[in-house]
Amino acid sequence: MLGPVNVAGIPYRTIWPDPDGSAVSIIDQTLLPHRFATVRLAALPAFAHAIREMLVRGAPLIGATAAYGLAVALRHDPSDTALGTAHAALLATRPTAVNLRWAIDRVRTTVAPQPLLRRAEAAWAEAGRIADEDVARNRALGEHGLALLEPIVRTRAHGRRLHILTHCNAGWLATVDLGTALAPIYLAHNRGLPIHVWVDETRPRNQGASLTAWELGQHGVPHTLVSDNAGGHLMQRGQVDAVIVGADRIAANGDVANKIGTYLKALAARDCDVPFFVAVPGPTIDWTLAEGSRIPVEERNPREVTHINGLDAQDRPAEVRLAPTSTQAANPAFDITPGRLITALLTARGTCPATTNGLRSLFPDLAPLPPLAPHTPELPP
Ligand code: MRU
Repeated sequence: MLGPVNVAGIPYRTIWPDPDGSAVSIIDQTLLPHRFATVRLAALPAFAHAIREMLVRGAPLIGATAAYGLAVALRHDPSDTALGTAHAALLATRPTAVNLRWAIDRVRTTVAPQPLLRRAEAAWAEAGRIADEDVARNRALGEHGLALLEPIVRTRAHGRRLHILTHCNAGWLATVDLGTALAPIYLAHNRGLPIHVWVDETRPRNQGASLTAWELGQHGVPHTLVSDNAGGHLMQRGQVDAVIVGADRIAANGDVANKIGTYLKALAARDCDVPFFVAVPGPTIDWTLAEGSRIPVEERNPREVTHINGLDAQDRPAEVRLAPTSTQAANPAFDITPGRLITALLTARGTCPATTNGLRSLFPDLAPLPPLAPHTPELPP
């Protein structure tokens, strides 16, 4: 079995390539949890649409999809101009998750020195490596996360089950397989650790209610859906042992951009002495940004706030308006949680404090060297 989530008994990755390199298939996440449908992407505009309109979403899956999108674009036209145009079109789809830029830069760097005839094939192979590495990385991250959870379980009286709160969807559906924040949870559940997940609904698009609840349910992990405002209350009552969330981009100092509302959970966790962990794949670290305030925050359509989607009484997909027709809405999709509110970052290389030094200690090969001290000319004695 490849992944933790079987759909109708079949193990799936969230993206899978046609063997001839002409297209990939994805799960249309806008239809979940009500309908499981797959879509084939065979041309650059379809890839850009799938990312922009969130048929695929979640930082690692956005990156893998964009990498395949660049490869498919090169199959149609391998020229330098087409490479530049496709790279720009994909980069413009969603601004916050840095895995997108990381993945398409990596494919471009691989193919640029290749003769035109070899480019599509080389890009396709590189996209495949990006997808496979995501799976291996999530598994390693999950093992490190599990090692943090096991001692918390041992402190629980009478083997009481562990209650984890999560926000948005940083699970199987946000990655190629397994998930980031949910990886330790799946591993714990698979190994018989008694675990229960509080799932934030995650307005406005409700990735918690529609995606996290669905995939945990498919795998049989006990969970309870709560409104976004319930987390602080649960923490005050001692009903949350740890919070684990994902990340869309992390600055070099450990500040984390994640789905809007994450910051408020971190504040509540600090007030209530609840450990707050962030699952961070290496490609989600933006070494070019010194601090989180520089991370671009996506502003999405206000309609996601004024309206809500679901099924009507006849089980037909429906959108209903919540706010008065004249009401203006704002829709920042992410917020920044300062590193000081984060207990630890979970990575595939282990755990570390959410600080510049913490990240450098785990990623010495990737972290830029510290800026040089200003040069002071030596004065003659
Ligand atoms: O807008 P989305 O659904 O792409 O946002 C996803 C999140 O914020 C996730 O928590 C984050 O990408 C981590 S995914 C491993």
